[in-house]
Amino acid sequence: MARETRSIAEEYAARFAQSRQLFAEAQALLPGGITHMARAFDPFPLYIDRCVGAYKWDVDGNQYIDYWMGHGAMLLGHAHPEIVAAIQAQASRGTHAGGNTRLEMEWARLLTDLVPCAEQVKFTSSGTEATLLALRAARVYTGKRKIIKFAGHFHGWHDYVACGVLPPYDVPMSPGIPEAVQQTVLVLPFNDKEALTQALESSDDIAAVIVEPGGAYNDTVPADPTFLTHLRQETARRGVVLIFDEVVTGFRYAVGGAQEYFNVIPDLTTLAKIMAGGLNGGAVVGRRDIMEVFAPGADPVQARYHRIPHPGTFNANPLSAAAGIAALRLIATGEPTKRAQEMADLLRQGINEVLARRGIPGCAYGRASIFKTFIGAEPPRLTRFDFRNAREEADVLLQGTPLAPVLRKGLLLNGVDLMRVAGFVSAAHTPEIIEATVQAFDRTLARMQQEGLVP
Ligand SMILES: Cc1ncc(COP(=O)(O)O)c(C=O)c1O
Repeated sequence: MARETRSIAEEYAARFAQSRQLFAEAQALLPGGITHMARAFDPFPLYIDRCVGAYKWDVDGNQYIDYWMGHGAMLLGHAHPEIVAAIQAQASRGTHAGGNTRLEMEWARLLTDLVPCAEQVKFTSSGTEATLLALRAARVYTGKRKIIKFAGHFHGWHDYVACGVLPPYDVPMSPGIPEAVQQTVLVLPFNDKEALTQALESSDDIAAVIVEPGGAYNDTVPADPTFLTHLRQETARRGVVLIFDEVVTGFRYAVGGAQEYFNVIPDLTTLAKIMAGGLNGGAVVGRRDIMEVFAPGADPVQARYHRIPHPGTFNANPLSAAAGIAALRLIATGEPTKRAQEMADLLRQGINEVLARRGIPGCAYGRASIFKTFIGAEPPRLTRFDFRNAREEADVLLQGTPLAPVLRKGLLLNGVDLMRVAGFVSAAHTPEIIEATVQAFDRTLARMQQEGLVP
């Protein structure tokens, strides 16, 4: 094979002519040319034409092994035939009934069957809506105002959860968050039992604790299982509502999500992504006595002053319900979750072997079918699941190494699309696809070594 004389950055900028052109045109139509902050990429992002199974194709006709997998929504792979058939069948029966449907019952039944804490279901259109609604439910249920969240944990983009996502954690991830809102959100270091107990003791105005149970920022800083147990005990003791945000971990860590995986059962859970089979949809699920805050009941005074009204044109939309039901029926067998995890195990192992063979510092880590990479520097000990209140190390993991963009570009040139330096493995990934991915890592890292970017 001829040795590439251009750098990875030069080759990326020169290839993908149609994507480059589309991004130039997008500047006029979309602020910054993008529709989701994670899809921004310098000098331009790729434009995707179609996705099937574990693959996607860009507008220039290049094929990629996909690890975005719909931001984690596509546990079953893209365009799964049973989900496509369910969507097609429902589309011809109408996409919005403007009324109640059997589908919403079936969808809710599957959720209550599969998710341990789920006694009742409130549908939303997204994960962001679900976390907003769950926090409001906790405030109404407890009559208290404040919430606790953890540094680096991502729960969508509404005002409350915009706090404490990125360093410096006392500055919300976005401007425009009212001071009054910020004052109701306590941001604590993650995996820190003492800080949690102290915070709970310091105020009797705490309605809820919300957590990504797998760990901060889609599990970039893995959760200490003993911290989750401590969190459950401390919140239960004080009547504080514990909310697991399982938008990512739901149906992925186990069929019953992270709560099944860790055997720690929260009061409420927020769901989205996988539950809607690749369409939009979300839900708050949980204990019946808490979910009661959504039921208007017969008493108009009670309904007006003590219950949460919840409109939403696309709540339990029939198309999403049809896709969600088809997906959850397949997931209920346990096979897709298991298969995706096995493939992720192979991938983590393969990447770690390449790093060791090439003498490059770093590692691939992660639980279930989520994988993370930390390449080009020694990973903090957190990645080896040694948890000791390591705040600085958590920040190191969250910030990643400066090599992230070049690694991603190099992998794209080698036919692999990572979500930044991480990814979601699906049940459509096969051992052959994983092997091809490991080889792409090997080629990319070899080229990065040639360029002097990694030792
Ligand atoms: C853990 C977590 N919670 C909530 C959300 C927000 O979900 P959505 O993008 O559907 O609003 C996300 C999105 O990635 C997430 O990862």
